[in-house]
Formats: sequence, structure tokens, C-alpha cells
Amino acid sequence: MNHAAVRLRSVTRSYGRNTGAVTALDGVTLDVPRGTFTAVMGPSGSGKSTLLQCTAGLDRPTGGQVFLGDTELTGLSERKLTLLRRTRIGFVFQAFNLLPSLSAEQNVALPLRLAGRRPKRAEVLDVLERVGLRDRAGHRPGELSGGQQQRVALARALVTRPDVLFGDEPTGALDSETGRQVLKLLRAMVDGGQTVIMVTHDPVAASFADRVLFLADGRVRDELSSPAAGQVAARMTRMAAVPC
Ligand SMILES: Nc1ncnc2c1ncn2[C@@H]1O[C@H](COP(=O)(O)OP(=O)(O)OP(=O)(O)O)[C@@H](O)[C@H]1O
Ligand SMILES: [Mg+2]
Repeated sequence: MNHAAVRLRSVTRSYGRNTGAVTALDGVTLDVPRGTFTAVMGPSGSGKSTLLQCTAGLDRPTGGQVFLGDTELTGLSERKLTLLRRTRIGFVFQAFNLLPSLSAEQNVALPLRLAGRRPKRAEVLDVLERVGLRDRAGHRPGELSGGQQQRVALARALVTRPDVLFGDEPTGALDSETGRQVLKLLRAMVDGGQTVIMVTHDPVAASFADRVLFLADGRVRDELSSPAAGQVAARMTRMAAVPC
């Protein structure tokens, strides 16, 4: 067994060809240890979402290798990649992407159904309990606050017990106090052994992580361990000031 939850080796991703070509990722190599919380930061267009999507098997790199534990994602058939995404990966986005006509409980049960399993009610309610929403199981997204909806999305991402939970600005649409609740929840999950990788623009959000990676022009330019929010903000300002 490999102790890294995720490994990237010289990962590149470009879009388009010739003069219109854009290099979104330019040779990224990194290891993410199991049970850690990693934040990914960087200016708009630096490749954060592309990095996340290539790592989560939602997008295919143009070159290099991506490993989830001992499984190499790059090179898997579309069918195997889909299966892997459904069973071993969780994803939360800035937009909660819940199905409006389904209850919280039905939304959370959905990934299990997609994976071909018949969800056990107790199992689904247990995950809702973990995000503090057991008593809202029967509510539809429209009857929940933004923070509550994101917690349902979190429960939905966790119900398959994924190896890695990915978040692309999961607190981006929430006010700071509600965002903080979601971040505390993520932190508690990591302390319980979950691996989390999260893109964020917010230095306070990044301060919940064990490590922050700073991307610029598709490369990892810098990193901080156990970051304080002030340190992260200072590093971001410095990166914006220094042309790469
Ligand atoms: N489907 C696509 N086709 C062409 N170019 C793309 C595509 N997706 C991303 N890009 C380009 O790749 C680069 C990296 O994009 P990416 O979405 O990863 O940035 P980001 O760091 O997530 O930015 P933001 O903070 O604005 O979300 C950008 O220059 C973007 O324009
Ligand atoms: Mg993005």
C-alpha cells in the first residue's frame, strides 16, 4: 500500500492547439498524505480547478500520471474511471448542485444508487447526523439555508466513504460565519482520518488546512505548512506583486 492518498507526477493539461493553446497545468508533481487537509490557492486562471479535476478523474491530463492510492487514473478506461469516481471520490462545488425535487435524505442516497447499491436508511441518516442535519432529512434544498445545503452536499460526497474529498471553493457562496461552520466540519473529518483537498481564495479558509499549495501559471510555486491566515494573505499579496 502507498501512504499517499494522491500522487501527481509531471502532470500537464493544455487546451487548444497552436497559437490558441493554453497550458493550464505545467508539470505538477506532488504527494498528498492520507488523512491530511490540503488547500490550493492562486490567482484566477492559475490552474486550481484544472488541478482538482485532473486529480479527481473528472478531467484527463494531457501528460504525466495521477495516482489515487495505488491506482493509476491516467490510462484507465472511461468506464473504470467513472466507477472509480462513483466509489472512491467525493466532490463538493461552490454551487451545491443538489436536486431540488429530492429531500436531503434522497440527495444523500443518490451516489449509492448510482453505484448500484440499495441505500440503507440508517447509513444515510448517519451521514446526515455527522453534518448536523439528521432532523432535516425530509426537507428539500429550497427549504434549507445555504450553509445547510452545502452540508447536505458534503454528506452526499461522504456517503460512499471516498478515499479523497475534493472541494472547489466549497465555502465560496457562503457568508463567513456559515463558511466557518462548513470548514470546521471539514477539519473534524480530516481529524477523523478523511483526506481533503480544497481550492479556495480565502486565507481564513486555507488556515483550516495542514498545508497550502500556491499555484501560478499552472505550477506549484510555493507552499506553507500549518498556515495562519495572516501568513497566507501575505504570501498571496507577494505572489501577486512578483511577476512569475
Ligand atoms: N475547457 C477549457 N478550454 C480552454 N481553456 C480552459 C478550459 N478550462 C480552463 N481553461 C484555461 O486554463 C487555465 C486554468 O483554468 P482554471 O479553471 O484551472 O483556473 P482557476 O485557477 O481555477 O481559476 P479561478 O480562480 O478563476 O476559478 C485558464 O487560463 C483557463 O482559461
Ligand atoms: Mg477555478
